[in-house]
Amino acid sequence: MMVVDTKTKRCLYLQLVCLLLSTLKGEGFYMGITYVQNAVAKGAVCLDGSPPAYHLDKGFGTGINNWLVQIEGGGWCNNVTTCLVRKNTRLGSSKQMVKQLAFSGILHKEETFNPDFYNWNRVKVRYCDGSSFTGDVEAVNPATNLHFRGARIWTAVIEDLLEKGMKTAKNALLSGCSAGGLTSILHCDGFRALLPTTTKVKCLSDAGYFINAKDVSGVEHIRAYYNDVITTHGSAKNLPVSCTSRLNPSMCFFPQYLAQNIRTPLFILNAAYDSWQIKNILAPAVADPHGYWHDCKLDVTKCSPAQLKTMQSYRLGLLHALAGLGKSPSRGLFINSCYTHCQSEMQETWFSADSPVLNKIPIAKAVGEWYYDRAPFQKIDCPYPCDKSCHNRVYDPNEHPGV
Ligand SMILES: *[C@@H]1O[C@H](CO)[C@@H](O)[C@H](O)[C@H]1NC(C)=O
Repeated sequence: MMVVDTKTKRCLYLQLVCLLLSTLKGEGFYMGITYVQNAVAKGAVCLDGSPPAYHLDKGFGTGINNWLVQIEGGGWCNNVTTCLVRKNTRLGSSKQMVKQLAFSGILHKEETFNPDFYNWNRVKVRYCDGSSFTGDVEAVNPATNLHFRGARIWTAVIEDLLEKGMKTAKNALLSGCSAGGLTSILHCDGFRALLPTTTKVKCLSDAGYFINAKDVSGVEHIRAYYNDVITTHGSAKNLPVSCTSRLNPSMCFFPQYLAQNIRTPLFILNAAYDSWQIKNILAPAVADPHGYWHDCKLDVTKCSPAQLKTMQSYRLGLLHALAGLGKSPSRGLFINSCYTHCQSEMQETWFSADSPVLNKIPIAKAVGEWYYDRAPFQKIDCPYPCDKSCHNRVYDPNEHPGV
């Protein structure tokens, strides 16, 4: 998403040329920002106290009463130090957000690029709280001016969208990628509850199935990190009660302990070797002081046989965490054996001539068939490197500072 923002900035200079080229390549088009000003009075604000925001493209034709709510991702901040760093970026302040955002992939408005959702009302909700929309701390320390109010943002934004017409939705899909994919799991039943009972509601989590795994040094790094996130943001009271009534709240940030109790149909789209998880859960810098994993994390083709073996175990851990959910006919599952992160927002991976496939079906088709109950889709690919349709990630080392 940082990529999109950079592109957007560049596009401000060469707007016409850029629009033309991006349309031809199916990269999408640009949508203006809406600030939810009335949220401020409710204390529903970004880390820096600025109003939350979203980008909305109105539905048309047969999609006029259908709503796609896509939640932006961007990691988390786990303590005052990291939240202060985030506060003055686009992930902590609507003052820092670009005013025009590219809509592509699942947000695209053309049928050839987005066969089932193109004419829906499509919303991209900006992420500026650092807690996957779960935080709620009343007190604001004047020394930091940090606001931990993600859960209030969630409510204020959904209420605003209901007023804009979502309250008469026929169909609705809550979606998101990365920290936004986790949001769509955490808030799935809550979203369902805010919509009329007559609305058909489903949720899609893209690259949001973060697992509770040990890192390469044997430490439960991500578990401690999530514990810090929910403690800093006061999130426990806003996590699904079906989980917190049984388990320690920090466990209830992991989809594997949550998802079996979610009653709304959920589609889990995730790469088996999710590149964010490999970089930040399996081999975070703190667990790899000599940098043995550096090259492998940037580019999967640089991994040694031993590293690939470790990654195969990671995949098995992910599959185990999925199997633990039990079977549900309403669940969708697209687990491809790629080294990537977020596949619904980029045109190339969502729906294109060479997009990733499972059983020859691209992601957009699998999700569309599942949403409309035309066909179930629950597929897990064989292990790396058998999938030839991947768009494997090659990281820019300056990108994604991680956890
Ligand atoms: C805050 O979190 C970061 C990232 O996990 C960590 O490196 C740092 O030591 C933490 N700082 C404090 C004050 O706890």
